[in-house]
Amino acid sequence: SSGYITLDSGFMNTGSCCSSITFLDGEEGILSYRGYGIEDLAENCTFVEVAYLLDHGNLPTREELSKFSQMLGKYAMVHEDMIRFFDGYPPNSPPMAILSSMVNSLCSFYPEMLDNPLENIDKMAARLLSKVRTIAAFSYKKSMGQPLVYPRHDLSYCANFLNMMFDSPVKPYEINDTVVKALNKLLILHGDHEQNCSTATVRVAGSARVNLYASISAGINALWGPLHGGANQAVMEMLTQIHEEGGNYKQFIAKAKDPADPFRLVGFGHRVYKTHDPRARIIKKACDDVLTALNISDPLLDIAKELEEVALKDEYFIARNLYPNVDFYSGIIYRAIGIPTNMFTVMFALGRLPGWIAHWKEMWDDPDWRISRPRQVYVGPKRRPFVPLAERT
Ligand code: SDX
Repeated sequence: SSGYITLDSGFMNTGSCCSSITFLDGEEGILSYRGYGIEDLAENCTFVEVAYLLDHGNLPTREELSKFSQMLGKYAMVHEDMIRFFDGYPPNSPPMAILSSMVNSLCSFYPEMLDNPLENIDKMAARLLSKVRTIAAFSYKKSMGQPLVYPRHDLSYCANFLNMMFDSPVKPYEINDTVVKALNKLLILHGDHEQNCSTATVRVAGSARVNLYASISAGINALWGPLHGGANQAVMEMLTQIHEEGGNYKQFIAKAKDPADPFRLVGFGHRVYKTHDPRARIIKKACDDVLTALNISDPLLDIAKELEEVALKDEYFIARNLYPNVDFYSGIIYRAIGIPTNMFTVMFALGRLPGWIAHWKEMWDDPDWRISRPRQVYVGPKRRPFVPLAERT
């Protein structure tokens, strides 16, 4: 009667589940976190407020937000022994590989997570939210051969990240409010998205009673895929190629429609949305706002807009309800901020982290939760007699 499906105890075998974190209506293009519309949150909140909302169920009071922010500040540093791990990675190591292994390694530095994962879970979650931001920035600095910039207590979550990424002894980074607001908005829009591939991976791993850090590490690896979070990097590479080849985006639309060609128009299509992804709408508008405020003219944005306009009028895309998704425009803003393309998916992971944490906690708090064990339909050979090696031809 409430419009929600009722699930029997066997639901874990199907991979579906009940959740009170995020509501998504793919037909109407509606997305809300804990009942709050994504449009309101993206426009009026900081990422830290929304991370608190996702993980605690309510928007924080001023006092709760202050306490949460202090925890994030307290846990921003990374153990100096962990920093030495960066020296072992080859110069061009994939940032997502570094991120997932560093997050998994947190279990070694905080073994209390292994004994009783739910004990002090708020502290463990805040530790993860803060350290992942530092690890991401440190991996970028190491890849650039630049000295690490340590977190500062006087900066907000996003400003701290940007400062750790771009400050340097020869050129101090100037915190730009437009950039900080844009980054908050992008991270909020990636905060959660119900049972997507990487969140389902976190839940499947966690359902075996795997600790938070190891479950999140699994989610990071699932997000890496080009059909999932890796698409934001692939979109930027596609738009760059179109630009470098003279701007002929129509040939890419033709390739995407060709059944003989495996190419997909990255940043388009979605398993659930059969109309505009509400996040893509917000990000597209934010592109204009940020580029104007920063006085940047990016030809890739013009190409993206023209490509969207033509594709949305094309029968192939219309017939399959293919619209731009969250990944189609996000890279334009990351690029304007100065984030390198190979870190776009890391940025997706930073944003999605509070959602993953919320789902892991929700599952662990559920007394009826069981290990995920999907079943299959067997389509292999029927039973047959054994043939000894000597008789096999
Ligand atoms: C994210 O689940 C989530 O919520 C994910 C996410 C999140 O916040 O966590 O929203 C983030 O992962 C967004 C998606 C990012 N990926 C991409 O942009 C990659 C390009 N998109 C496609 O690969 C595809 O649209 C998927 C993977 C997103 C969805 O795939 P589905 O639901 O399995 O769709 P499908 O493969 O069954 O396609 C149905 C039809 C097929 O054509 P027909 O066989 O019917 O002729 O649509 C076609 C597909 O060929 N199609 C596309 C297309 N996407 C689907 N054709 C061209 N270009 C595309 N992008």
